[in-house]
Amino acid sequence: DGAGGGERKLLGFPPVPATDEDALAVPDGYTAQVLIPWGTPLLSDGPEWRKDASNSAADAERQVGSHHDGMHYFPLGKGKDGSRRGVLVLNHEYMDRTLSYPDGDEEMTREKADKGAAMHGVSIVQVEKGRKGWRRVDSELNRRITATTPMTVSGPVGPDHPEMQADDPQIRGTINNCSHGVTPWGTYLACEENWNFYFGTTDASWRPTPAQERYGVVADSDYRWFEVDPRWDAAVNPKEMNRFGWVVEIDPFRPDSTPVKRSRLGRIKHEGCVTTEARGRIVAYTGDDQDGDYIYKFVGAEPWRKTRARGESPLDHGVLYVARFDDDGTGRWLPLEFGEGPLTEENGWKDQADVLLRTREAADAAGATPLDRPEWIAVQPGRQDVYASLTNGSGWDNAVTPRKPNPYGHIIKWTEEGGDNTATSFAWDIFLLAGDPAHDDRVELDEEDLFGSPDGLWFDADGRLWIQTDVSNSSQNDPEKGYDRIGNNAMLACDPSTGELRRFLTGPRGAEITGVVTTPDRRTMFVNVQHPGEDTPFWGENSPEDPRAVSNWPDFDPEGRPRSATVVITKDDGGVIGT
Ligand code: FEO
Ligand code: CA
Ligand code: CA
Ligand code: CA
Repeated sequence: DGAGGGERKLLGFPPVPATDEDALAVPDGYTAQVLIPWGTPLLSDGPEWRKDASNSAADAERQVGSHHDGMHYFPLGKGKDGSRRGVLVLNHEYMDRTLSYPDGDEEMTREKADKGAAMHGVSIVQVEKGRKGWRRVDSELNRRITATTPMTVSGPVGPDHPEMQADDPQIRGTINNCSHGVTPWGTYLACEENWNFYFGTTDASWRPTPAQERYGVVADSDYRWFEVDPRWDAAVNPKEMNRFGWVVEIDPFRPDSTPVKRSRLGRIKHEGCVTTEARGRIVAYTGDDQDGDYIYKFVGAEPWRKTRARGESPLDHGVLYVARFDDDGTGRWLPLEFGEGPLTEENGWKDQADVLLRTREAADAAGATPLDRPEWIAVQPGRQDVYASLTNGSGWDNAVTPRKPNPYGHIIKWTEEGGDNTATSFAWDIFLLAGDPAHDDRVELDEEDLFGSPDGLWFDADGRLWIQTDVSNSSQNDPEKGYDRIGNNAMLACDPSTGELRRFLTGPRGAEITGVVTTPDRRTMFVNVQHPGEDTPFWGENSPEDPRAVSNWPDFDPEGRPRSATVVITKDDGGVIGT
């Protein structure tokens, strides 16, 4: 087996049928095990999970967070050892405000806001394969990074920049970490997505600035932390939000290290930050997940080893580009460089830091192409083609978003000029349209492979493309959206050379499937199940008061509650996952 397997087919497993059952299903011949659900103590002497959600904010700081998302496995040791022992690093995108406290969140308190902040961020957990499967082990590497962990910022927007001077002199924390990236030098990149939802104010006279408006900052925001903690109050402490929207670099092997926000990669709602190398340079692709927003690419200024040899970060030196997709199937990477094109002093731009703080406005000015919610991006090993999920959206007046509206989403693909990921032009194509041909005759999926709202995308080392879905509960339950035959969220495997597609996993009710990685031997796969039981406003009066009526995965304890978790998948014959 392995890369270059010649005739051997990439997909060898029996397909998993679509379902609306409250269970996690994998193909016959495979086994799934639940690992580190929300609330698992990071160390065995840490605070035990309390199933009535009565753990305190201080407890939550020492437990695995909630809403598991992007994830990477860093092997510990070489060869076989590295596939039996490693460090899982995973994002905790958000938390459920009704499930996280015994009495819900109708009454907001400082303790509740602090607990919510502690449930966010990143978990670093050493794991090992034993006789009874994989388990969390005590390790000095185990660490929680939360919304209050001390951090710094590097690049053109440094810690001393006037726009970074908030009430707290210390830059702290990371929030809404969706997908992720891994650098060639072995660090983890946590990406800050919907950070705007955490800032708000009760000050009726407050109005957002144009920059704040472009990022969707509103007074009446979802998390009501601003009601009890001035840190999150957009009127009282307006610069605090400038500390979010970045890519955060974390060294999982140095538990005392300070995470660094890398301003050179821009300030957007970073879905993820997938990296590759070309001509010795680091190249990082990142989507800005909002209907009508863009895809970006960062290209290092020189071979990354050279920058590292000087003791500097390759992520601090380079150029940020935004994508323009032309209707003729070609595209251009437009540089977001101060002084170039429209980004001049004459047009109101101060310097490169200003361009990066207001990345979205800079990309608007440059003429980027609006897309249907760009989510994960994946680079095909060997060929270096780039695939991106456009999960769903309203559809825009361009050929790269061909459906209007686009409730099912699609996957696009591009080849950089000369196969060089540092190039400034590319050729693009639509790789596949998701959906159900019963509702849209442009969809070419077989009945047994129907899916919608692709989100997670990841290539394993053999070249299988893993596709994970995030259909919102409101779409699932809205007959207009055409999701009636698609069932719960799923993960599929695809052979990109033949287009062959097969459903590999279905998740519990109300959950999205996100985050996937294997051990280096590809015989263990880790997948995240996020927000089982998530309620939906669409159900309105029919909405069950207790989310357990939707899902109580994975514990199925009538007194417990649904929990996000990592799932470990192995093949019963010990083979490579997917074969
Ligand atoms: Fe957090 Fe765009 O998904
Ligand atoms: Ca999510
Ligand atoms: Ca996502
Ligand atoms: Ca999503």
